Amino acid sequence: MDPLRPVDLILAKRAGQEHAPAELTRFIDAYVAGEVPDYQVAAWLMAVCWRGMTDAETAALTQAMARSGDMLDLSGLPHTVDKHSTGGVGDKTTLVLAPLLAAMGGTVAKMSGRGLGHTGGTVDKLESIPGFRSSLSDEEFLAQARAVGVVVTGQSKDLAPADGLLYALRDATGTVESLPLIASSIMSKKLAGGANAIVLDVKVGAGAFMKTLEEARELARAMTAIGGHAGREVRAVLSDMSAPLGRTVGNAIEVEEAVRCLRGEGPDDLRELCLVLAGEVLAAAGLPHGRAELEDAIGSGRAYERFERWVAAQGGDPRALGALERAPDRWQLRAARGGVVSRLDALAVGRAVGVLGGGRSRKGEAIDMGVGAELHAKVGEPVSAGEPLATLYHRGGRGLEAAQRLLTEAYAVGDEGAVMPLVLERGIGA
Ligand code: URA
Repeated sequence: MDPLRPVDLILAKRAGQEHAPAELTRFIDAYVAGEVPDYQVAAWLMAVCWRGMTDAETAALTQAMARSGDMLDLSGLPHTVDKHSTGGVGDKTTLVLAPLLAAMGGTVAKMSGRGLGHTGGTVDKLESIPGFRSSLSDEEFLAQARAVGVVVTGQSKDLAPADGLLYALRDATGTVESLPLIASSIMSKKLAGGANAIVLDVKVGAGAFMKTLEEARELARAMTAIGGHAGREVRAVLSDMSAPLGRTVGNAIEVEEAVRCLRGEGPDDLRELCLVLAGEVLAAAGLPHGRAELEDAIGSGRAYERFERWVAAQGGDPRALGALERAPDRWQLRAARGGVVSRLDALAVGRAVGVLGGGRSRKGEAIDMGVGAELHAKVGEPVSAGEPLATLYHRGGRGLEAAQRLLTEAYAVGDEGAVMPLVLERGIGA
């Protein structure tokens, strides 16, 4: 075989040519092995940003990235299902969806990310439950998946390491915003994660990575195409992320809301999104997926019971659910006038909770599980002058001034407020 000449790939991509799958595999393998310097990969990434990639190239890049580390073998488990969200504010769907899917016959054996920037991470939220262990051995992971049907851990370093390297380089070289690079980054981790049926929740709006419906639709199409190339059943849903999901943003406070949702107490938007995502992925897995059956799994308590078993299996104390630690100090934002909430900006609310200590701006930073925001009024809801719009839970005023400013900017009260539909499109890739 001819030696790999990275400059040839850079020149070819700069000229808008298509790479052969084998070339991409060699390039990624050589990069992970330390044989191609960052500056050449950075130049190639910039060429991809400008020239794009075909579906076949994107699929080959994704496979190469997925195979750069461990590929989880879930083949011994029945009906493996997974979900990915492109990230949002107040998005606690995994906490509700995972036990719901298990109650419907699926197996959720999932590695989940930690929060970064204004978006929260499932593993951080779970760690607000006393005793919960998010780091398990491979044997513990598989044994729990088999016994309980749900296991969620932090993402191992060995899962798609090429993505870790490429993502850091993209971050530092202005090459994050490229559709094939985003699609391959997300899907490499999903393919390595091993599930057969996957639902992707692509968020659209101010609080999301994809700001417009067209961008989100294109990303969803690219990711379902990658799944098809890899022989997985992948469906995508587009959902609104202009406002936070549910009425809570934070860590412990979001777990409490997920518990209420699993007990059939809403909130409506979170419940609706979970039912839609469950319907899509169960259909993809060939399992029962009708709305009435899903509602029964919640109404009968089966989903909540599965949640408790899951938490206990990972060392968490189910008796603590419903009374998790909340930061002791509070501040309320009140409506300056009467009217209808016309705007509630997800990004600003996410940032407000972040500055209180509930999020991290750098990888590895410690976070405060007890701080958060409770949103009493959402878009389209009437309020009177002086009524509380939202409560911030803070610890001794840490970050409070900035959070107050952000929360105040997040809300607008006017004469009317149009409610956006939550689920914008579904069934993409079916
Ligand atoms: N999330 C990822 O995992 N990768 C990207 O490139 C963007 C969002």
